[in-house]
Amino acid sequence: MKVLIVGGGGREHALAWKCAAAARVTEVLVAPGNPGTAAEPRVRNVATCAEDIPALVQLARSEQVDLTIVGPEAALVAGIVDAFAAAGLRCFGPGRAAARLEGSKAFAKEFLRRHGIPTARSTTFTRASFDEAWMRAQPTPLVVKASGLAAGKGVVIADTADAAIASARAMFDGQFGEAGREVVVEEFLAGEEVSFIVMADGRHILPLATSQDHKRLEDGDRGPNTGGMGAYSPAPRVTAALHERIMREVMEPAIRGLAADGTPYTGFLYAGLMISPAGIPNVLEFNCRLGDPEAQPLLMRLQSDLSLLCEAALAGRLDTVSAQWDARAALGVVLAAAGYPESPRRGDPIEGLERAATLPGKIFHAGTRLASGQVVTNGGRVLCAVGLGADIAAAQRGAYALAGCLHWPGMHYRHDIGRRALASGDA
Ligand code: AMP
Ligand code: GLY
Repeated sequence: MKVLIVGGGGREHALAWKCAAAARVTEVLVAPGNPGTAAEPRVRNVATCAEDIPALVQLARSEQVDLTIVGPEAALVAGIVDAFAAAGLRCFGPGRAAARLEGSKAFAKEFLRRHGIPTARSTTFTRASFDEAWMRAQPTPLVVKASGLAAGKGVVIADTADAAIASARAMFDGQFGEAGREVVVEEFLAGEEVSFIVMADGRHILPLATSQDHKRLEDGDRGPNTGGMGAYSPAPRVTAALHERIMREVMEPAIRGLAADGTPYTGFLYAGLMISPAGIPNVLEFNCRLGDPEAQPLLMRLQSDLSLLCEAALAGRLDTVSAQWDARAALGVVLAAAGYPESPRRGDPIEGLERAATLPGKIFHAGTRLASGQVVTNGGRVLCAVGLGADIAAAQRGAYALAGCLHWPGMHYRHDIGRRALASGDA
């Protein structure tokens, strides 16, 4: 069987590596992939852009690909699954209509409200309907969100009404292009953030192992928000009781609601949740894909054949399969380029990859490229070093041992990934 992975980051490296490990998979293509995927056995990079849907359909046809798995959201929101289905090709992910859960925060909020799923109170504005007086009457802080895809940058937590109004105006004025045509303004929720990722087949839900991301740039959860600076699995914060509550109050009504609305959801579904002090799992956002970097430690722990799980989902049979997980913990540390997240520098030569390859664990490539045979930085989040160990502390030691082998000018990373799990004392 031949598998195509769409994308070229750390999540896609982990997807390609995992799929290639299954005996029945003869070859994995990655479009476009990166130097990390190129070096994996039975994996081949193809120079097709992850957003060029007609070219991807053509590629899957000419290479006789049996199964395509899409990493990033852009192609999903643009309708890659619909295009593949129209061409008779199997592609794991939501169709365009269901992917609006991520592609439009305005749509997601309306969906959540209509189906009684807990979320922050909010109002959606366009430039024409924007109401400054209403904004001034709200308690602060206020959270201002560009409705469309903004590469994780479209959310501002404003301490004053003036700052919130200025943020909304900047969005209407094109700060995030089309993504800011609608702006969602919502109440600020306190609590602890948790990610929860499942696979769905339109009707049935298979929860993945629990995981937790670290979105802030600096140690101690300080500094600006990023795409994610590290993640681990399992997440002890998601107790069996909380797991059950998230399934009952969020995932089940979401999958049921999408089916009832005529847009059944197949694919990975990721809920970003704020667990209130009373334990209410409020949805902050939905993503229509695996998290990055959550995918890296998750897929290190997955023992089942991922292509089989995706095939079962595409056949509407997720209820007949289960996922086996390594009992050990996995923890990934993102190694970032100078200037990340504001303006990452590209082209710095990366040293130490050979030495890291001799240690246990795994380095996944994200923002890298080859320049005259040398691996150099090519994006903000450059590598993800994943350790595996008997518990979170052991996995953390493994990941930092890997990170310690690596160097380039301006490389930086957090030193406290796994902090919360270790502080909770039950990891
Ligand atoms: P989002 O892309 O909607 O998940 O927002 C990005 C980040 O902003 C989240 O991971 C949270 O840390 C924060 N955030 C978003 N919405 C809220 C909210 N209503 N209250 C508090 N923090 C929020
Ligand atoms: N790590 C957060 C995300 O993938 O959206």
